[in-house]
Amino acid sequence: MAPYSSPALNVMVAAARKAGRPLIRDFNELENLQISMKGPADFVTSADKRTEKILIEELSRARPGYGFLGEEGGVLKGADASHRFIIDPIDGTTNFMHGIPHFAISIGLEREGQLVAGVVFNPVTDDLYTAEKGHGAYHNNKRLRVAARKELAPAVIATGLPFLGKDGHARAAAEMAEVMNVTAGIRRFGAASLDLAYVAAGRFDGFWERSLQAWDIAAGIVLVREAGGMVSDLNGGADMLGSGTVLASNEYLQPQILKLLKGIKG
Ligand code: IPD
Ligand code: CA
Ligand code: CA
Repeated sequence: MAPYSSPALNVMVAAARKAGRPLIRDFNELENLQISMKGPADFVTSADKRTEKILIEELSRARPGYGFLGEEGGVLKGADASHRFIIDPIDGTTNFMHGIPHFAISIGLEREGQLVAGVVFNPVTDDLYTAEKGHGAYHNNKRLRVAARKELAPAVIATGLPFLGKDGHARAAAEMAEVMNVTAGIRRFGAASLDLAYVAAGRFDGFWERSLQAWDIAAGIVLVREAGGMVSDLNGGADMLGSGTVLASNEYLQPQILKLLKGIKG
């Protein structure tokens, strides 16, 4: 089935594909990259900056006036206050740096403060995930649907973990102890946008993480919702972008995982 496509989605996909091409070359020649250290275990490469620049150039050419929130450049106000692209040029930078082909360009579109479209694109594997509000979620040409499992026992749940220099290590360990005890297993793949895409695709039954930024999850939230899933923050509310916490799953498991995680003292 051809994926649903709108002018807005076409623009986002075209920008992601254009920015993805030099990223594939960089990935294949990692040793030639200039690497600067922004903080412990937080590598920012020239590839991040260039990718965000290409995305902003392409998106603003097609949609002049729209604002931006980008990981590298922060807030760019546009003349059109009702639209904003939320972009992570490389989600999964640590994987990228280590030659692990599991990272993505993530572009979300907000209209009047509501997330309405999302594109998550892994240029190396050529996996394209797209969704627009009210029109379903797709992986390349395939319509996506979240997993149907109702029980935690057979469920595979993904998470993201803090690393050197980040807070929340003890809490993350306590949460994993609870979840690993009642499920078929936990996965930590290292790119929140793809974790959400995998929930949308029914590969993961659920995903939770704390200490995220809006650009990690904006596009993925649209994917999960449009694949029939449920997304909340870790208080059970809808402030994922503001709180930086997320829990995505299907309608059966989402409340069960939320209850489990809420029972843990942080
Ligand atoms: C990171 C990835 C990772 C998540 C971190 C994010 P980055 O984004 O999404 O999976 O655990 O919290 O910061 O730094 O690779 O863009
Ligand atoms: Ca990220
Ligand atoms: Ca990033």
